This record gives sequence, structure tokens and C-alpha cells, in this order.
Amino acid sequence: MATRIDGKAIAASVRSDVAKEVEVLKEKGITPGMAVVIVGDDPASRIYVNNKKKACAEVGIYSEEYALPASTTQEELLALVHELNQKEEIHGILVQSPLPKGLDEKLIVDNIDPKKDVDAFHAVNVGRIMIGDYHFLPCTPAGVIELLDRSGIEIAGKRCVVVGRSNIVGKPMAMLLLHRNGTVTICHSKTQNLSEICKQADILVAAVGKAKFITADMVKEGAVVIDVGMNRDENGKLCGDVDYAAVEPLASFITPVPGGVGPMTIAMLMKNAVSAAKIQNDLPV
Ligand code: GUN
Repeated sequence: MATRIDGKAIAASVRSDVAKEVEVLKEKGITPGMAVVIVGDDPASRIYVNNKKKACAEVGIYSEEYALPASTTQEELLALVHELNQKEEIHGILVQSPLPKGLDEKLIVDNIDPKKDVDAFHAVNVGRIMIGDYHFLPCTPAGVIELLDRSGIEIAGKRCVVVGRSNIVGKPMAMLLLHRNGTVTICHSKTQNLSEICKQADILVAAVGKAKFITADMVKEGAVVIDVGMNRDENGKLCGDVDYAAVEPLASFITPVPGGVGPMTIAMLMKNAVSAAKIQNDLPV
């Protein structure tokens, strides 16, 4: 029987720490500010953006929303990013992805001032993560590390297996575990003997995007299982990449979906927004 890691409670605790930091900054005359840009009318993006704005309000971060039509041109979006780069009261810029067809996401992100890149998607910030010299961490992998830390789970020396190699989750996740002295393996769709490799993991992070992909035979008894997935099962019910019911009896710790990694992503974004405000005011992070 595994201990269920309560991401909702841990995220609330992170947000409460962030709110205290915002208070301290406000006493110094600094109000952290974030611009959230959404282009088009993707319903999932709309929900994410609303949640991000709500989280900003809750922790005392000033936010501005820029909702642009799907017909927005690359030049128009770049012009907005450049304007926000210059805007003093805005410390963090987030361009919600996916962008409508015809807009070059990479080019847009690479035009965000790296000091304001609260997603940590800019090539400069990705590179900084690689060498372990960073202020911003990509929100989801950072949230996973926070869950492990706050659950008292040691990473150093442990065999960590990350399933999935996306730029947003898998790759930075592996890097953060490595920085914490985990022995890290990244698996992906071409990996041979996937089950055997997963079964060696002390800490198994599933970030594949396939419902219930990690089955009980892939998990070692006593493993820590972190589920980054957010999928719908055959009945349309929200589920992760891990077959929770089958894996839970084997694991020592496990994150549920929903209520595990998900709530941490926005909490860590708030943390990055505060770091951005500090950096731009020459304060230690
Ligand atoms: N779309 C889905 N997740 C994210 C995220 O973390 N940041 C941005 N900018 N867009 C997303």
C-alpha cells in the first residue's frame, strides 16, 4: 500500500510560501507582474490561462491577459512580446501553447527576454538548466522535485527512470534528477526492454501521454511512482500514464491523477514569477 502524495495540499503550501514572498517584495515597493498571452480559442488553453490568472491573484501577483484572435500574424505577436519585454511592471511573460497554425512557437519563445521567461522554455534558460546554473525551472519537472522533497524522498544515489523525452518535461526532468545526484535513464518510444528498465527504477517518472501506459509488471516493489500524464481513459475519465489501481499496491509512494503533479505546475509558475521580479530588481533569488 503506497503513500499517496497529495499534490493539491503541497501546491497550496508552495503557493502560501510564494504569497509570503510577494508580501516581502511589496514592502520593498515591488509588485511581481505577469503577462499571460493566449492566441485563438483552444478551450483547454482558456482553462489553463484562467487558472494561471486566478493563481496570480491568490498569491498577490499582478497579472495582465492578452487574448488575441487566431488570425494574429507572427509580426503582431512578436511586436507584443517585444512590448512586454520592455514593460517595467511586467516581470514574467507566458505565451500559452499550443499556438494556432502559422505561428512559429519556437521563434516567439526565443524572442521573450530570458529574464522574463517564467516557463523556462527559452534556449538560454534550457542551456542554463543543462549546466545547473538556473533561476527558472520548467514548472512541471520543478513541481515533481518539490513533491519528492516535501515527501521526504531521497533522490541522491537512486535509480531514476524517466519515461518520455519532451523538451518541456522528460529532458529537463532527467536533468533535475541528475543535479540531485540521481542515476538517471531516459526511456522513449524506441527504447528496447522498456519494462525491464522501468522495473529497475527506485523513482519512476511517467511522462508519455498515454493512458495507463505504466502497468504493474513495469514497477519494482517499493518504487516511488510519479505520474505526469493527463489523459482520458476509455470512459472519458481523467487518468494518468500509470495504471493507478494496479500499481498503487506495489509502490511506496505514488501521485494520483488528478491531484498529483498537475496542481504543482501552476504553483511553480508563481515561484518563477517571484524569482523574475527579484532578478529584475537585482535582489538575490
Ligand atoms: N501549454 C501547456 N502547458 C503549458 C505550459 O506550461 N506553458 C505554456 N506556456 N503553455 C502550455
